[in-house]
Amino acid sequence: MNLIDSLGRKIEYVRISVTDRCNLACYYCRVGERVSKLHHDDILRYEEIARLVEIMSAFGVKKVRLTGGEPLVRRDLPELVKMLKSIRGVSTVAITTNGILLGRYLEKLVEAGLDRLNVSLDTLDREKFRKITGVDGLRSVLSALENAKGLFRDPIRINTVVLPENLDEAEDLLLFAKDNGFLLRFIEYMPLSGGTGKFVGMDEVLKILRRRHRVELAPDQTSDGPATLYSVDREQFIGLIAARSHPFCDGCNRVRITSDGKLRLCLFSDLEFDLKLLLRSGTSDEEIAEAISKWVLLKPARHFLANGQRSTTKRGMDAIGG
Ligand code: 5AD
Repeated sequence: MNLIDSLGRKIEYVRISVTDRCNLACYYCRVGERVSKLHHDDILRYEEIARLVEIMSAFGVKKVRLTGGEPLVRRDLPELVKMLKSIRGVSTVAITTNGILLGRYLEKLVEAGLDRLNVSLDTLDREKFRKITGVDGLRSVLSALENAKGLFRDPIRINTVVLPENLDEAEDLLLFAKDNGFLLRFIEYMPLSGGTGKFVGMDEVLKILRRRHRVELAPDQTSDGPATLYSVDREQFIGLIAARSHPFCDGCNRVRITSDGKLRLCLFSDLEFDLKLLLRSGTSDEEIAEAISKWVLLKPARHFLANGQRSTTKRGMDAIGG
C-alpha cells in the first residue's frame, strides 16, 4: 500500500519536528525569544512519534528526518532515533541540527544507528556567526563536525542559507566542504513568517563560484532530494536548493509532523490535521492510517514564492522544522 496524493505524488518521506525550542535565534528564521510556546503535554511523546512512523511505514514511508526548533535540545533524542531505526520499512533516519549540541550526543547518535546528518552552517566567521544566530557558537559546531567526520553512512551535509552577508564566503565554504568530505548545499532563503531575511537567488551563487571554478550540472540527479547537484572542478559535488527560483513542488514526496502532533502537508500551507487528537483518543492504527491517506489527498499542488509572494503561514520556520 502506498501513500499517494491527488496529483499522484508518492509520499515516502516524513519530517518530524520534535520540539519548537531552539538554542539559536537566527534572524532569518525566527523572531524574539527562544523558549517554547508549547506546554510539555502538547508535544508528542517518543512512543507516539514511533507509532505514527510505524503506521506510515506500512504505507511506504521510508525516510524520516528529525528537525526542530533544534532537535538535540529535546531530551534523549538518540532514544527516539533508536526506536525509529527498529521500525521495519524505515531505511533512513536523519537529523537536521545546528550542531551546537552535536558534540555531546555524537557517540549516542552513532550507537542509535543514525544514518544521516545535516548540519546547518551559514558562515565560517565567528563574529558573523554570532550576528546571524545571536550566539557565539561557531567553535562548538566546527569541533563537533570535526569529530563527526566519517561516522555516518552518508556524507555529512552542510546546509547554508544564502544571505547577503555570506555570499562572499561561498568559496571558503566550498573549500571547507571539500577538505572535510562534506556535501555542501546552498539553500535559497524562503520568505516565511517569523524571520526576516533578504532573498539571494542561486544564480548569484553560481556566478560567484564560476569566477574561479568549473561548475557543471551533475549527470546523476537522483540522490539528493530537492537539491540540484553540480560538480565543481570535477572533484567535488555541491547541491543548490532553489525553492523560490526553481520550485520543486512537482517532485515533492514529503509531509511533516509538527511537534504538537499536526500532520502538515506543505511548508507553505497552514492546512494541518490533528494526529495527536487521534493518538490520544483510543483510535486504532487502521483508523489513523485511513485518516492519513485521506488527508494526504489535500496536499497543495505548489507554493507561490516564485511570483514574489511572501508566505504568511501561522507557523514560522522554527515551528515547522525547515
Ligand atoms: N529559508 C530557508 N532556509 C531556512 N532555514 C531556516 N529558515 C529558513 C528560511 N526562511 C534553514 C535553517 C536550517 C534548516 C532547518 O532550515 O538554516 O538549515
